[in-house]
Amino acid sequence: MSIERRFDIPLIAEMALREKQIQQNYRPIIGVHKWFARRPGTLFRGLLLAEFGEDPLEEIFFQSNDFPGLRIADPFMGGGTPLLEANRVGCDVEGFDINPMSAWIVHEEIEPIDIAAYERAAAALISSLRADIDRYYRTSCPHYGDPDVPVKSFLWVKVLDCEACGATFDLFPGYLIAENRRHPKNVLVCPACGDLNEVEDRRDPGNCASCASALHRSGPARRGRCECPRCGHSNAYPGQVRGPLEHRLFAIEYHNPHRKAEHRGRFFKKPDDEDLARADDAAERWAKLSPRFVPDQHIPPGDETDRLHRWGYARYRELFNPRQLLGLELSCRLVAEIEDSRIRHALATNLSDLLRYQNMLCRYDTMALKALDVFSVHGFPVGLVQCESNFTGIVNGAGANVGSGGWTNIVDKYAKAKRYCDAPFEVRRIGSRNVRVPVRGERIGERGTGRRKRVAIRCESATESDLAPQSLDAVFTDPPYFGNVQYGELMDFCYVWLRRLVGSEAEGFDRPSTRSPQELTGNTTQDRDLAHFTEGLATVYSHMAHALKPGAPLAFTYHHNKLDAYCAVGVAILDAGLVCSASLPCPAEMGGSIHIHGTTSSIIDTVFVCRRSGAAPEDWLFDTPERLVAIVGEDLAHLARAGRTPTYGDTRCIMLGHLTRMAIWTLRDGWNRSLPTTEKLATVRERMTAFGGKRANEDVLAMWESV
Ligand SMILES: C[S@@+](CC[C@H](N)C(=O)[O-])C[C@H]1O[C@@H](n2cnc3c(N)ncnc32)[C@H](O)[C@@H]1O
Repeated sequence: MSIERRFDIPLIAEMALREKQIQQNYRPIIGVHKWFARRPGTLFRGLLLAEFGEDPLEEIFFQSNDFPGLRIADPFMGGGTPLLEANRVGCDVEGFDINPMSAWIVHEEIEPIDIAAYERAAAALISSLRADIDRYYRTSCPHYGDPDVPVKSFLWVKVLDCEACGATFDLFPGYLIAENRRHPKNVLVCPACGDLNEVEDRRDPGNCASCASALHRSGPARRGRCECPRCGHSNAYPGQVRGPLEHRLFAIEYHNPHRKAEHRGRFFKKPDDEDLARADDAAERWAKLSPRFVPDQHIPPGDETDRLHRWGYARYRELFNPRQLLGLELSCRLVAEIEDSRIRHALATNLSDLLRYQNMLCRYDTMALKALDVFSVHGFPVGLVQCESNFTGIVNGAGANVGSGGWTNIVDKYAKAKRYCDAPFEVRRIGSRNVRVPVRGERIGERGTGRRKRVAIRCESATESDLAPQSLDAVFTDPPYFGNVQYGELMDFCYVWLRRLVGSEAEGFDRPSTRSPQELTGNTTQDRDLAHFTEGLATVYSHMAHALKPGAPLAFTYHHNKLDAYCAVGVAILDAGLVCSASLPCPAEMGGSIHIHGTTSSIIDTVFVCRRSGAAPEDWLFDTPERLVAIVGEDLAHLARAGRTPTYGDTRCIMLGHLTRMAIWTLRDGWNRSLPTTEKLATVRERMTAFGGKRANEDVLAMWESV
């Protein structure tokens, strides 16, 4: 009952909120490789210490902790957050994930590496690449006349052939490429001559300084249609595509190290003939190469990948332009030559992570003035303007990266992650300052203080796990949230390259794709519905419950917009013979996340704490809507103390969490797990609505509106 008594909601919520704003500063370990929807490490540390620590959480959170001999499992390890937190405080860990990329990444996170040797190898690789391809990423500065300065980003617009007159025209959704926030003025492309204009007022941008044509902020391409500027015909796009649409290079953001000190803002230019020739040269060079590492696989249909098909992309390699393919193929060749397998694997991991910035789905953030990697949303959005980043990366005189998305950025992130494994820290708020507190004595990896910590990482479906009965001290996990993220479909984007580069050296890499019919996500293409998710989750939780020692917790995070997705959780917990003794709120997403922004989605997860023989604090039990509203109100007050002004989505998720808990509590006696899944889901749904009812919903909404 320790979490139930000792978990400190405002303390952890405040830290989790800060962590999710800039997660790599709090948990640099995430820099090893992208994984989707990573929950805050702070939250799982809080849960572990609340369960196993003795002193107040506020004290021990910033101290070194060691729990030798405790065995913790995570059946859905993904990027490994709960597992790494448990390993860091001295526990033996057991992780499962059906996706081979997850097992690869967690191995990379846990396995030690000689950081100096890694950095030397990375520097040698980058220097070979620079000698070979850096000339394709150079330009001249029209402002000051300096030749040969590095390009940060190339901006490309999709073009379409008019179906009436055959003219080729640009599909500009808008002409603004930079807002006047991080740059002194707004930068607009002239629709007539393509010159870049710097203007004070983007709502009234005036005329082009070069050709005097009117400047506009919004472009002609809108809602799938664009008029041909020559004949006026309204064309649909992407239309009946026979392949991906072509792109035209229309703008460049570059770095001028010689003038940076005296120049205000960024450097933008319209590409000149030499810039266009450099892209052509790279394409010509690519055409002459016989690729050994660029994958040839087709993109299979899917809930997320169907969008790519609609835009004419049939194979993964079509998502890259020739200059990117050249850089990636040459990088793979250099990685493959490295003899030391640990370092080769680290650099292969880096290449896999680099892919998300080096492809033609990346967009340019006109406010932040940087590339958005393909996975800044959990899907494959196809834009009309794409951003190609400098391939090797740009480093200034002080050794710091300028811009993002190149090899140097990825290597820097990885090295920071591995240093953090050896010397982890927490970030404490003292007054208005964030202070880094080293936590000496803790470390991530198999080597503990004076002993080895057991680490078992398995690439298999957790529905097939067979852990010994009563062998676990806790399960901490973050399961899939029904259909929110299509892990396999998304991760294949990296996997097809990584697999080609490292061969079958890794567990699970014999599979051609990371997709699996056993993945516990709702997926229309693969006919996986709520019943599939419920049954899978119930099987996993039943295996885990069987392996837990008496009274040990299974704690997991969850949130969803739909009530039905909570019913699945309720059924899974009941089928596992567990009860839910707490449902705690905690921020777990970034407030401004692109995939959250503008939706009614919540950034607040419910942490469900379940035990076989659970007792819940009396005042958490409710049987009237008034009491439920009071409990949700207390949670909102805790979150407000942590600095979160709850949204309607947050409030609703918190309420659904409590309703699920109470439905489980009242249904546990006499629960019949052998009934059909649809019947069990209906039973939980009925109980949740009976408890909450329309009245509770309205009261919670009214309460939120008055916050
Ligand atoms: C929400 S993610 C976990 C995120 C993770 N906690 C992190 O910090 O990155 C859920 C994970 O469940 C995995 N998964 C889905 N179905 C599974 C199954 N049947 N067995 C094991 N893992 C599965 C997915 O591949 C995904 O990595």
